[in-house]
Amino acid sequence: MTYDEDRRVIERHQANLDTGAVEALRYVTEAEHQTMFFNRLTPIGIGPALPPPRWKRTCRRSSLASMTLIEMEPTAVHVGEDELPWVDNDEGTKLKVLVAKVSEGLWIIRTKFAPGVRVQTHKHTGQVYAYTLSGSWKYEESDYVNTAGSFLYEPAGSRHTLVVPETNTEVTDVWFQIYGANLSLDSDGNIERVTDAGSVLQAYVAGCEAMGATPTTILTD
Ligand SMILES: [Fe+2]
Repeated sequence: MTYDEDRRVIERHQANLDTGAVEALRYVTEAEHQTMFFNRLTPIGIGPALPPPRWKRTCRRSSLASMTLIEMEPTAVHVGEDELPWVDNDEGTKLKVLVAKVSEGLWIIRTKFAPGVRVQTHKHTGQVYAYTLSGSWKYEESDYVNTAGSFLYEPAGSRHTLVVPETNTEVTDVWFQIYGANLSLDSDGNIERVTDAGSVLQAYVAGCEAMGATPTTILTD
């Protein structure tokens, strides 16, 4: 079956699901159904191919369509507050890695900063979205202060030095969604360290293992 033929089958099946799942199965043949499951789901964005349909032996025919629809839906991933450990990073900072997709250059981390922390000047090769959960921090080069609820967008190419006020009375907790690499710079602007999705994941997993923890819920490629 060609892709176009297969696509029409899936579209017809989808339309039938919208109007009546039981009726739909009366003229979607077994061969078409098998094709939908095993070959052509991803190209039109329905979702990944599914495992062999063992459910066929246990499910009534009349419930086939609705069950198919449920199994085709992507599954959400929930990560509870305590599921991933905090790992020591630079002095006065801890982090956890929530997402590290090397193919997309994307890494999402949460970082906790103690009062008085100053992070080495860094430059971004990609854009950054930052959301502050508690505490406060700023960039030395700017006047604004990030506090709980603040959102910050950092364009690719931006360069700055993160500081946390010594007067803070609580830990500063920030969610960063970062694309590309952070280039840590010395006082002359030379690159001293490169951090990206791959390196942050590697360091985080090593840190977890050193604590005897296994981070099982990080989203990776
Ligand atoms: Fe930054």
